Amino acid sequence: MKKKPIKNLFNERAEKYDYLVTKEQPLSYTAESFQKVLINLDYANIDGNNKVIQFTSTLASEGKSTFTSNIAYLLGQKGKKVVLIDLDLRKPKLNRVFNVTNRDGLTDYLSGKIEYDKVVRHSEEVGIDFIIAGEKTTAIVNVLEAKKLQELIAKLRENYDYVLLDTPPVIAVSDALYIAKLADGVIFIVAQGVAKKTLVKEAIKTLKNNHVNIIGTVLTQVSLKHGEYGYGYDYSYKYE
Ligand SMILES: Nc1ncnc2c1ncn2[C@@H]1O[C@H](COP(=O)(O)OP(=O)(O)O)[C@@H](O)[C@H]1O
Ligand SMILES: [Mg+2]
Repeated sequence: MKKKPIKNLFNERAEKYDYLVTKEQPLSYTAESFQKVLINLDYANIDGNNKVIQFTSTLASEGKSTFTSNIAYLLGQKGKKVVLIDLDLRKPKLNRVFNVTNRDGLTDYLSGKIEYDKVVRHSEEVGIDFIIAGEKTTAIVNVLEAKKLQELIAKLRENYDYVLLDTPPVIAVSDALYIAKLADGVIFIVAQGVAKKTLVKEAIKTLKNNHVNIIGTVLTQVSLKHGEYGYGYDYSYKYE
């Protein structure tokens, strides 16, 4: 007799997790709340002044990669030319979003292993271009400060309507601050019930002290009272 597999709730959740909820469930409440963010984003970038946008948060797992990927997808749907870059070199996620192995990515390009044409990929399915993190490195600050990275962003700025940067959180490591120097503006994500209020304040203060241009804040993972939308979370957006 065949043994029934033991249910592992954690794995089941991880397996089922759809990064691109707006693609999988375009009519959901979640997808609709994204539209509001898009309008604000377009408004912020009306003169092309906020083209390179960084997404960060206080702590890990606040939904940065999820949020950024969905925004990238929806901008692509609107006919914008978008490139999404995984700059969270400590916890890269875009390889999972796009279902590819984390090979031939940004760090490989910066070290000269691969060329521009190979590092920038296109997803037919999602309708946008993307760059994954690539081979793990311990010299993260060197990577983020590399002249070649600045030049890459400059080139992408020429070629795209939006260059979206998925990045690490602010507390604990300073990666986000290095990345902010490459970006026109930052969208700060706050997941309900993850970071304590004082810590969120500290993260925002850190950004402000470093003269980072915060163009918007987003509240994610908001529990809805009636779980009738299947996803059970909400995105809201405040334009500052
Ligand atoms: N809106 C959401 N609704 C439900 N779960 C979410 C949501 N956003 C993120 N998660 C959960 O949090 C985990 C981390 O999300 P992710 O987008 O990778 O966060 P980050 O990039 O901030 O570390 C996901 O694997 C998922 O389980
Ligand atoms: Mg992430």
